[in-house]
Amino acid sequence: MNKKARVLVTGGAGYIGSHTVKLLEESGFEVTVFDNLINGHREAVLNSKFVKGDILDIEILDRLFSEVQFDAVIHFAAFIEVAESVRHPLKFFKNNVSGTLNLLSQCLKHRVKRFVFSSTAAVYGVPESVPIVEEHTLCPINPYGKTKLTVERVLEDMSNTGEIFCIALRYFNAAGANPCGEIGESHNPETHLIPLILKTAKGERENIKIFGSDYPTPDGTCVRDYIHVDDLAKAHVLALDYLLDGGKSDVFNCGYGAGYSVKQVIEMAKRVTKRFIPVEISDRREGDPPVLIADNRKIRSVLNWQPEYNDLEYIIKTAWNWELNRKF
Ligand code: UFG
Repeated sequence: MNKKARVLVTGGAGYIGSHTVKLLEESGFEVTVFDNLINGHREAVLNSKFVKGDILDIEILDRLFSEVQFDAVIHFAAFIEVAESVRHPLKFFKNNVSGTLNLLSQCLKHRVKRFVFSSTAAVYGVPESVPIVEEHTLCPINPYGKTKLTVERVLEDMSNTGEIFCIALRYFNAAGANPCGEIGESHNPETHLIPLILKTAKGERENIKIFGSDYPTPDGTCVRDYIHVDDLAKAHVLALDYLLDGGKSDVFNCGYGAGYSVKQVIEMAKRVTKRFIPVEISDRREGDPPVLIADNRKIRSVLNWQPEYNDLEYIIKTAWNWELNRKF
């Protein structure tokens, strides 16, 4: 175990970042959060050292890396909204690719050799077969997915030189919140299914729109692999431990290996909230694959990841608790 390791977490004030930071702190790591707060929330960083800054700002990064000799970087900071990436690809490539290159340059300059990267199931595009294995063809269908795949390729080439050891975690659909009630999902604008359903249950939205009911799935709506954010956070801590213990570069899917349709998620939300949730069937959203389900055997066997919250009811209960008592 590497309990005293110093870890820089970019994007640590965001949704998945803040949950990971909490778990890192609880596991004894010394954490510095670096976030520009464009999409992150200062309140989401509970106890760690916080530095406000942007990964496009090389000078501030250089200063930070000079001040603290980090043992590793966990890099979450990125723009994530798929539809926005289609409208503003350059913005996404600048931030997600150029920003990451800046960070990697600092890692080389300051001899930080361990790097955990937030990747996405979007690198697979429309899957040819499910559950999706890591070796599946990589063919993203939107700029967001392309930016993440570009970084994965850079990391692979850098790993081949021995300059750095990297783990890319390909997230499926992160959801839920830590039960402490202090942190949770808060995007502006919100585009994700579960928070939108819960805002509808709360009466903040008129209805929840189902984007397409004519998909080739059992009930016609899209199927996704929803993973509780605390299990996802655990995957990062395990990836970090693995690298700090001398593990080699690799890529892992993060999902439960089971899927729920949009209609099933809405039904579960009705049960959990006991509220009326008006539904409207609407057109398909561009770029949505019918089914995304992870094959998670690799992360289970290599990192010994053992999910604890593989339960849609728990996921929605914790998300609902956050939605009713949100702090930001
Ligand atoms: N959906 C609706 N109505 C809504 C919102 C979503 O029907 O109002 C549907 C979507 O069509 C999709 C499912 O609910 O079928 C889940 O949608 P989300 O927007 O919550 O999540 P995505 O699967 O689109 O996106 C997630 C991540 C992305 C990532 C993508 C592919 O949030 O960052 O998975 O891996 F790119």
